[in-house]
Amino acid sequence: MNTVLTELIRQSIRAHGPVSFAWFMQQALYHPEHGYYSSGRCAIGRKGDYFTNVSVGPLFGEFLAAQFAEMWERLGSVEDFIIIEQGAHDGQFARDVLESVQKRAPEFFAALRYRIVEPFPILQDRQSRTLEGFRDKVEWRDSLQPFLGVHFSNELLDAMPVRLISGNMEKLVDLEDDKFVFVERPLSQGAAASKLPRDRDAFNQAALDWIDDVAAKLQRGYVVAIDYGRLEDEFQGNVQVRAQHRNLDSPFEQIGHADITMPVEWSTIIERAQANGLRVAGFTDQHHFLTGIISTWPDLLQARSWNSSVSSRRVQLAAADRKTKRALQTLLHPEMLGRAFQVLALEKNIAEPAEGGQLLQPKPHSTGKESDGRSWATQPIHGIGCPSGAKRVDREAPRLAGFKFAH
Ligand SMILES: C[S@@+](CC[C@H](N)C(=O)[O-])C[C@H]1O[C@@H](n2cnc3c(N)ncnc32)[C@H](O)[C@@H]1O
Repeated sequence: MNTVLTELIRQSIRAHGPVSFAWFMQQALYHPEHGYYSSGRCAIGRKGDYFTNVSVGPLFGEFLAAQFAEMWERLGSVEDFIIIEQGAHDGQFARDVLESVQKRAPEFFAALRYRIVEPFPILQDRQSRTLEGFRDKVEWRDSLQPFLGVHFSNELLDAMPVRLISGNMEKLVDLEDDKFVFVERPLSQGAAASKLPRDRDAFNQAALDWIDDVAAKLQRGYVVAIDYGRLEDEFQGNVQVRAQHRNLDSPFEQIGHADITMPVEWSTIIERAQANGLRVAGFTDQHHFLTGIISTWPDLLQARSWNSSVSSRRVQLAAADRKTKRALQTLLHPEMLGRAFQVLALEKNIAEPAEGGQLLQPKPHSTGKESDGRSWATQPIHGIGCPSGAKRVDREAPRLAGFKFAH
């Protein structure tokens, strides 16, 4: 237990009364000196507190690199494509992506820059050490700037502070002597309460502010957010607390030494994204997303196998080294990360719906005949991979590889 941090939180409650869970979570994870993430104490992977897709191995980054390359092509193989990552931890995902792109797609590599949005200096240092070999490719910012390309995050949203609201009541954090306890209070009837969305168990204002910001800064391109959560009708907002691969019973245990997360309620994010002019390019679980990528580029696995001359996918898998197979199983298996994680892709200024259900789509290499450099695209489509009610890309739009098996 971080006694300094715990005492700081206690002092604040003693001075001002009960605090929202969002404020408590903000201190536990992001207090500038003592927070679990901001202090650099967070540890991911076998020797840390929990696993993520990234800590499973380089395969995840290699799959995403292929998806980013397709997005780059959809944007007309532009020369100033930026991959933005937020929540980059120690920079491992960035390195996996850059190594893969450098090896497999040199033209894309030449065109791209990798920008990490990282507010914490200690994590920036770690990232720059991991990315030593890509000094000329990587840049850091402490906030989002306008960009063309793709914004990527893995488990960023579940780490954002949430208020615990159910119906008209909110759970606040209070003290009984020195012990932290939850107390319930009716929501105040002020303007803040009227802005709250429908009855949900958690209210993630930070995630809504984040999507507002991303939508405003994205000039043209995509947003890919991977996280664990559910759509509104299945949503159960249970705070999860983890340390050394164990679930703790309460967020008041090991404050500043444990990770605290809340499953993402995707519907709210999607609605807000659409209100900001983004369109849903796809939404599916990780199993289907990665299967779509593998089936589009089977050589991603073939190149990792001992015998790269084998051609059938089953044989490729059998030949892939044991580590790769284990990683693949962890990422894909529905009982492991395959179903627990979902992938949301949003897009902006990729293809504009026009009259008659067709798309006015920017073409990679315009013939110059069209006055605005665009042409009509009329590919067939299948309208799956979207929450009901969400406005997705026009029904004629070609799908990204990751969403071809979306359901
Ligand atoms: C659960 S970790 C995921 C790390 C990494 N993406 C992975 O999958 O292994 C969440 C990360 O998001 C970071 N984070 C939270 N809010 C952030 C923000 N507003 N900007 C940048 N990073 C943020 C935290 O510092 C932490 O490194």
